[in-house]
Amino acid sequence: MASINSYVHENKQRFIDELISLLKIPSISADKAYKKDVLKTADAIKDALKQAGCNSVEICETPGYPIVFGEHIIDEHLPTVLVYGHYDVQPADPIELWDSPPFEPIVKKTETHPEGAIYARGACDDKGQMYMHIKAFEVMMELDILPCNIKFMIEGEEEIGSPSLEWFVQRYQEKLSNDVILISDTGMISNSQPSITTGLRGLSYVEVEVTGPNRDLHSGLYGGAVANPINILTKMIASLHDENNHITIPGFYDKVIEASDEERQEMAKAPFSLDAYKSALNIEDVYGEKGFSTNERNSIRPTLDVNGIWGGYIGEGAKTVIASKAYAKISMRLVPDQDPDEITELFVNHFEKIAPNVVSVKVSPHHGGHPYVTPIDNIGYKAANKAYSETFGVSAIPQRSGGSIPIVALFEKELKSKTILMGFGLDSDAIHSPNEHYGIFNYLKGIETIPLFHKYFTEMSS
Ligand code: BES
Ligand code: MN
Ligand code: MN
Repeated sequence: MASINSYVHENKQRFIDELISLLKIPSISADKAYKKDVLKTADAIKDALKQAGCNSVEICETPGYPIVFGEHIIDEHLPTVLVYGHYDVQPADPIELWDSPPFEPIVKKTETHPEGAIYARGACDDKGQMYMHIKAFEVMMELDILPCNIKFMIEGEEEIGSPSLEWFVQRYQEKLSNDVILISDTGMISNSQPSITTGLRGLSYVEVEVTGPNRDLHSGLYGGAVANPINILTKMIASLHDENNHITIPGFYDKVIEASDEERQEMAKAPFSLDAYKSALNIEDVYGEKGFSTNERNSIRPTLDVNGIWGGYIGEGAKTVIASKAYAKISMRLVPDQDPDEITELFVNHFEKIAPNVVSVKVSPHHGGHPYVTPIDNIGYKAANKAYSETFGVSAIPQRSGGSIPIVALFEKELKSKTILMGFGLDSDAIHSPNEHYGIFNYLKGIETIPLFHKYFTEMSS
């Protein structure tokens, strides 16, 4: 432990500099214009894994962006930990809301991060968190304390729904075989209270198109006499929640496993300040499904949210027009045992049914993913908790998260492995938003904690 700590502190500046160079490459998977940069990032990850000491590293082609696979096998009889992460990032827009350019990382001190935080797209999600694992592996190699076999699978399409991952996992079951999967792509409660993510929400994502008249019309000549698709779409969307903020799609809640009173009481013990939450977001009050707390609303309850809506004239000044079409992108976050395909089907049927005959609607499903929950009575969880306890001085709290990492359910189905979600980010790190950042404290603590996970997992496995 003492030696891990001193190695990390002696190499601190280099660890930060290496992450900064990685963050300079704009690996935006959603935008074809960045294809070269996404591929360049895969190369950089390959080099970093080789440099850190993997005895084999390769770039595996897929129908989409490649997966970087590296491994270091020391003894077949020892357990194998498969580390998953992603090297792609979200688009940076709206770019004008960044205080510094998203791909020119800078270090700034903040109240939450007095030791400084690195500001850049991908700093926390997931380059910073993924790179901790490569550096933790370097630490274990350099100090000669790697206790188990280790495999790395770092993909480049997570932010677009991992379209090639099922293909890859089914083809390479043997290559990916493991005793536990370890991921840092989630958050923790605070820098003084670590937590281990025990659940992720699933996702169903659809795009809707509402068509009225066959062309855009003068809103004076035709206004009031024909259906305005934007008016109709907004009305339809508004009807998807009732006065208690329950979702009105028939059958939507049928498969939701309600949390027991005991589980809810346990959840309520996690430290949380509603005032701090409201003031951090500058909102007068929170809003959500009646009968549930804020922490329940964003973790154990399903949701339906418009992520984008457009149509008509949005340029400068005013143009008097009734648009022919209106559009929206809608996400539904799902909880066990909701099935994304079933929910998408329920949505499509309902949306078509509530459309008045004066418009036609088209619903196109995007990616989806299954929800996930994991028990805490397994050695993976125990090893993670022991590692956090040692580096933070307090035991970790189990917590279900509202975010989605669809591949976690896929791993369980295809590889029959449990995933341990050891996240070191904070909700305030602004992932997917302008000014994303990652605390240097969090980055270094992660690099110190990860080797202990490998150590305790190996000890507890024998
Ligand atoms: N790392 C996030 C997911 C996350 C963040 C989970 C924080 C829990 C806490 C991941 O990169 C992500 O953004 N996932 C997407 C889903 C994907 C299908 C695009 C999401 O949750 O919106
Ligand atoms: Mn991520
Ligand atoms: Mn993300």
